[in-house]
Amino acid sequence: MNTEKNTIIFRLSYDGATNVIQTHKDQYDSLMCLISEYLNISRFGVCYGGGSCKTCGVILKESHNFEKKFVLACEVKIDDELANKSVIIL
Ligand code: FES
Repeated sequence: MNTEKNTIIFRLSYDGATNVIQTHKDQYDSLMCLISEYLNISRFGVCYGGGSCKTCGVILKESHNFEKKFVLACEVKIDDELANKSVIIL
């Protein structure tokens, strides 16, 4: 496996703090799983990725412009689409 090629780096912001997260493509099933492991937020990801609770909503922000979009973290894969973006937990 080419580790460098599979490395994904992005920023994760919650409650006024921002951390740089470095992970790998196959390390988590989704962004929701990663956030649940990094941060202990009791109200986050209540349906464990079932897509019904909407508690895993985050803002995805491009690093090179001001474009933002609301997404469900359980529907976001840890892949190149996430690399270098900012994830803001609501
Ligand atoms: S974890 Fe419930 S909608 Fe994403």
